[in-house]
Amino acid sequence: MAAAQLRLVFITIVLRFIAAQQNDGSVSVGASLKATSDVKPWLSSSGEFAFGFKQVQGNDNFLLSIWYEKIPDKTIVWYPEEGRMVPTGSKVELLRESGLVLTDPQGTEVWRSGSISGVASGFMNDTGNFVVFGGNSRKLWGSYDFPANTLLPTQVMERGGGMNSTISPTNFSGGRFQLRLLPDGNLVLNIRDTLSGNTYDAYYISGTYDDSNSTNSGEQVIFDATGYMYILRRNGQRFDLTPRGSLPSGDYYHRATLDSDGVFRQYYFPKNPISNTNWEVIWFVPDNICVDSSDRSSTGACGFNNVCSFDGNRPNCECPKGFSLLDPNNPSGDCKPDFTPTCDEVDSNNGRGMFDFIELQNIDWPFSDYVHMNPSNENTCKSSCLEDCFCAVAIYRDTQCWKKKLPLSNGRKVDSANVRAFVKYQIGDHPLQNPLGLPGKNKDRRSLIVVGSVLLGTSVFIIFVLTGVICVGFFVIYKKKPMNTYSIRKAVETNLPSFTYQELVEATDGFKDELGKGGFGIVYKGVIGKKIVAVKKLNTVVHDSDKEFKTEVDTIAKTHHKNLVQLLGYCDEGDQRLLVYEYMSNGTLAMFLFGDTRPTWRQRSHIAVGIAKGLAYLHEECSTQIIHCDIKPKNILLDDYCNAKISDFGMAKLLMLNQSHTNTGIRGTKGYLAPEWFRNTPVTIKVDVYSFGVLLLEIISCRKSLVFESDDEGMVVLTDLAWDCYQEGRLEAFVENDLEALNDHKKLATFVMVGLWCVQENSSLRPTMRKVNQMLEGGIEVVEPPCPYSSFSVTNY
Ligand SMILES: *[C@@H]1O[C@H](CO)[C@@H](O)[C@H](O)[C@H]1NC(C)=O
Ligand SMILES: *[C@@H]1O[C@H](CO)[C@@H](O)[C@H](O)[C@H]1NC(C)=O
Ligand SMILES: *[C@@H]1O[C@H](CO)[C@@H](O)[C@H](O)[C@H]1NC(C)=O
Ligand SMILES: *[C@@H]1O[C@H](CO)[C@@H](O)[C@H](O)[C@H]1NC(C)=O
Repeated sequence: MAAAQLRLVFITIVLRFIAAQQNDGSVSVGASLKATSDVKPWLSSSGEFAFGFKQVQGNDNFLLSIWYEKIPDKTIVWYPEEGRMVPTGSKVELLRESGLVLTDPQGTEVWRSGSISGVASGFMNDTGNFVVFGGNSRKLWGSYDFPANTLLPTQVMERGGGMNSTISPTNFSGGRFQLRLLPDGNLVLNIRDTLSGNTYDAYYISGTYDDSNSTNSGEQVIFDATGYMYILRRNGQRFDLTPRGSLPSGDYYHRATLDSDGVFRQYYFPKNPISNTNWEVIWFVPDNICVDSSDRSSTGACGFNNVCSFDGNRPNCECPKGFSLLDPNNPSGDCKPDFTPTCDEVDSNNGRGMFDFIELQNIDWPFSDYVHMNPSNENTCKSSCLEDCFCAVAIYRDTQCWKKKLPLSNGRKVDSANVRAFVKYQIGDHPLQNPLGLPGKNKDRRSLIVVGSVLLGTSVFIIFVLTGVICVGFFVIYKKKPMNTYSIRKAVETNLPSFTYQELVEATDGFKDELGKGGFGIVYKGVIGKKIVAVKKLNTVVHDSDKEFKTEVDTIAKTHHKNLVQLLGYCDEGDQRLLVYEYMSNGTLAMFLFGDTRPTWRQRSHIAVGIAKGLAYLHEECSTQIIHCDIKPKNILLDDYCNAKISDFGMAKLLMLNQSHTNTGIRGTKGYLAPEWFRNTPVTIKVDVYSFGVLLLEIISCRKSLVFESDDEGMVVLTDLAWDCYQEGRLEAFVENDLEALNDHKKLATFVMVGLWCVQENSSLRPTMRKVNQMLEGGIEVVEPPCPYSSFSVTNY
């Protein structure tokens, strides 16, 4: 009796032992594997697939995974989500009450196969699928249902399914790329933000969906046993992913992997290799990830400041000269500048001599530009970047110039030979000591690493903040766009959000908080999302078509300059026309200049230069020339840092469509109006120059331009006063003994002379705003101005 019992126990143990080991691929409840360097995996019956711990990246990093046992590099095809490595001594067990459980050496659970119970056995199928069965061979869990980065023949992905790339070929943590079969039936590839999980625009879209005919849309991604992959539509039709006839004949392994470079590729490998072979690619999408993954809000295929080049098979990321990798182990990650980008003082008088450029050929960052100058030449492009402390890189191409800020995104090599990128750096920072970002001599290296880690810390922080800002902006501006969906890249570049009237009523709490009144309407304070905005209610009902209104609004929306108030959105509903602007915390220049305390000369001159730059941009640099027509202190706003921002530009055009260039109606404000408004002569950008001159004289002297309402001839007394003081050499009288200004005598004299040149009655004598800029910043000498009114010659009219 006892002996028979013993024999039964013995047989059971042996059977169990055999079962747990392998043979037919089954694994019994209670079996376990410990992560050590000599651990044997659980094999499928053919011995082709293995489930167990695989050492990756050094001795103490084990990845619980499934791999090809018979292929020399034992390519991994599955791992639990997010690819967490575990140290030696970790354990995986198949438990009756909880399925597969992975624990670390301390016994803490790291991962488990879902919430399942009543487990009867496990099975490593020859297809590469590890399955956990309950009673009656009911499937409780399968690795096929939770793909990591690879699909195998006989595997199916349902709507809503997806997988993430790995960070690199050897680090299995979640990378930046994602493949999903969306609920609408489209198979898409997109970049995701690994911190927030946010997804950016898709860079591959199968197009297997149809709004009007959902029978046409994709239902499953099928990788059939013969090695063909396709999307099965609801109506039973196939959308081929693997091109027909493209598979080699013979016995091959097949797999389709979302690689760490963001490309989704199908590979094959001979089952009976004659010699050393590698995985070969059958097809891949997208065609060129360097270009296809462009989304202005994401980094692109490579990280920030990085440059992507595509050799026809795979993308390669390389930091441009003057930049090096933030994380040396992640070549497709972000690049940090080897110099310190600075923007200390916007008083950029001496941009020259402090900064220089690194010139790069055939490299472009198509987005991150904030200024577009067309036409331009290479020298004006470079000098404009030198003078602008925000400018990090200028791109020059075909008489066009783009100024960019850091971080740069979507960088790529371009074929066209006439694209030049100029990367600005501070002289003395020696970026070219280390032009390729290679580590220097060992001695220097230590300090490099310290500096590097400090930089790394800040850069990561900056990028984090930037990402946050971008995300917040995204939420605010696109709050009506459902998240979690992709959007097809749009052909239209400006996509200014439109709001309903009701939304703006709510945003402004029923137009409660009035910020100011102007000739065109009343401005109210409001909140959209978490952003404070200024909502302008236009009081003139324009009887033009909606389309024209939208065109003009789009023109305004296309202007981007640090000295212009940015338009954020609009409303065009029935008779209601509203514009939503960024909110400026420091009010108008009128309040600032004519308030109780006199602002400092330094602040005033900074503001004057800012206004001149904004106007020069409107006149010469933006895609459609904009004449402001109403430059005055009330239309200049100040931000948190007392930077001047011009507001209300584009209004004249917006509210006076079909404006001919003669005085069909007088726009603007008395005291700032150029004489040609009152004569039957053309109105040009020079009217703004005149108004700017008056404004400049006001800024210099903190006096208002007095207006005699009834007198049409000698309108503005301030210009007369300025001329008298200048001619008699009594600038101290003009600035009322402002010591700070008088101590800065050269600049004061320059500003007054520029002001007098701008208010010349003869408009042809007035300089352009570009020239005004150069004069104010000391770039060119200012010659003595003539008397503003005596030089005027009647024959011009
Ligand atoms: C292994 O996979 C094949 C193909 O999916 C399937 O037909 C077979 O039933 C599986 N074997 C077990 C024991 O589940
Ligand atoms: C893999 O990458 C992640 C994220 O960058 C990092 O935290 C982890 O340390 C890396 N693992 C290894 C083994 O290098
Ligand atoms: C991919 O990443 C997202 C987060 O961005 C995560 O929710 C999802 O579970 C991951 N998918 C896989 C298969 O790991
Ligand atoms: C929907 O698509 C199927 C297959 O493409 C087509 O046969 C059918 O006529 C379409 N139905 C409609 C209403 O368009």
